[in-house]
Amino acid sequence: MPVTTCVFDAYGTLFDVSAAAREAAQEPGNEALRDVWQGLAANWRLKQLQYSWLRAVAGAHCDFWKVTQDGLDWAMEAAGLSDPELRERLLALYFELSAYPEVPKMLATLKEEGFATAILSNGEPRMLAGAVESAGVGDVLDDVLSVEDVGVFKPDRRVYELVGKRFGTAPGEVLFVSSNGWDAAHGKGFGFVTAWVNRAGEPVDRLDWRPDHILSDLTDIPVLAKAA
Ligand code: LAC
Repeated sequence: MPVTTCVFDAYGTLFDVSAAAREAAQEPGNEALRDVWQGLAANWRLKQLQYSWLRAVAGAHCDFWKVTQDGLDWAMEAAGLSDPELRERLLALYFELSAYPEVPKMLATLKEEGFATAILSNGEPRMLAGAVESAGVGDVLDDVLSVEDVGVFKPDRRVYELVGKRFGTAPGEVLFVSSNGWDAAHGKGFGFVTAWVNRAGEPVDRLDWRPDHILSDLTDIPVLAKAA
């Protein structure tokens, strides 16, 4: 079954989740961040994801902006930072995260070649709209699908079902791309053709499914979509 539709995770896949801490650390007045921004960014992401999974398992959903703030508060405390202005600045930067450099051209190529394109993300609609706008990729995406439509985070399969509901596709017609190994694995379990973008060279997650493809960035997605 040929792939007709390419669906992307947002945070860490299209948008660089480390950019907020990295950019804030370069700003005057944020000297305290200079030596610790990498650890802060890693803890922020880790706690954000852990809280999303715990809330999904416990049936205690809140939106992704709340777990993003809660993760930041934990990470700032762990780094010994208690600065409300810095917190607000980091959140503002997270709202308008940069896309990875290859993203605009990759999405434009997919559209030129006739693929449908979308984001499927834990993000709540306003934060996704902020990131899409600041990255300038709204014109090359057919839709931005948020878990808020089903009120539970990934990897609950109700989230992956949103793609077929929107595009009328069978799972095997969808190339699902995520930088999160667990998301690529569960997308594969759902029936998508999956690509894991492994920028950091991490080991494959030990889950029930393995991604079909492992890439170091997004450049080759159009080639993969055509060949799949
Ligand atoms: C997302 C998170 C998981 O965008 O990165 O859904």
